[in-house]
Amino acid sequence: MKLISGSANQPLAAAIADVLDVPLTDVETKRFRDQEIFVKINENVRGEDIFLIQPTSAPANDHLMELLIMIDALVRASAQRITAVVPYYGYARQDRKTGGRTPISAKLVANLISKAGADRVLTIDLHAGQIQGFFDIPTDNLFGQPVFVDDIKDSFSKKERDNLLFVSPDVGGVVRTRSLAKQFEADIAIIDKRRPKAGESEVMNIIGDVEGRNCVLLDDIIDSGGTLCNAAAAIMDQGAKSVSAYITHGVLSDPAVQRITDSVLTEVVITDTIGQPEKVKDCKKIREITVATLLGEAVRRIANDESVSKLFG
Ligand code: R5P
Repeated sequence: MKLISGSANQPLAAAIADVLDVPLTDVETKRFRDQEIFVKINENVRGEDIFLIQPTSAPANDHLMELLIMIDALVRASAQRITAVVPYYGYARQDRKTGGRTPISAKLVANLISKAGADRVLTIDLHAGQIQGFFDIPTDNLFGQPVFVDDIKDSFSKKERDNLLFVSPDVGGVVRTRSLAKQFEADIAIIDKRRPKAGESEVMNIIGDVEGRNCVLLDDIIDSGGTLCNAAAAIMDQGAKSVSAYITHGVLSDPAVQRITDSVLTEVVITDTIGQPEKVKDCKKIREITVATLLGEAVRRIANDESVSKLFG
């Protein structure tokens, strides 16, 4: 097995390498003057089982292109099997036509990855599980839930855990929220969210009683922070005791960090599927937990042709 990292999230790749006790393969990435990307794999990969780690986070187009170019280099270097490990699958929210003459970019990206020569894909918390069907190659969509369960057990006292209420910030997240709540035999509430236009969100109603509860919002993505911070404000307005959040992918476009800082949220826990800049690391309300062990174990199982279903929590 060989582990290779693109430039999108080298700390996560290094952590996965540590978990597996396998060194990262030496790769050179350069930019030409016109910003075209060039890669060179500096080790022999002929006949190897390759795991190429590259989330397609911002800058999404550059990281996607780099992933495709690396796959192409590996195919041409006669790798035996290439698994694209894409911890955060960008473009996933464009998974259906939202109006006339609009694209389904999540499908286009799946086509690009397959056509470039990937044999399988490993990812976490796809925005919609059905995106797996956009690929005609095997796709393992792990859940961040086991990592969240462990952290909640460590971070909340027994008394707080007995008073937890898990809240889905929109109707789309109900299945995910119910599944996490089940682990704590807790109830759920649902936010009735509307999007007046792309990038803006509005809380219409809260379905469920949040009064006096320690509320935990759960989502796959925090982007501008609007969904989360509006939901948190509405929850506290209805008399909740506290509100915090667990989010798999910290996209955190501006002004998300500022919104979180100014919000009523006690804490926002994100995973390291996306590499974060200093301003995120410096934000006292954001805490990052790692999915390196989860991904490392999935890589080990795939390499050994073992079942990965045990990892689905
Ligand atoms: C939407 O369906 C997603 O699950 C997230 O709730 C959304 O992408 C978050 O976006 P924002 O942080 O910009 O409100």
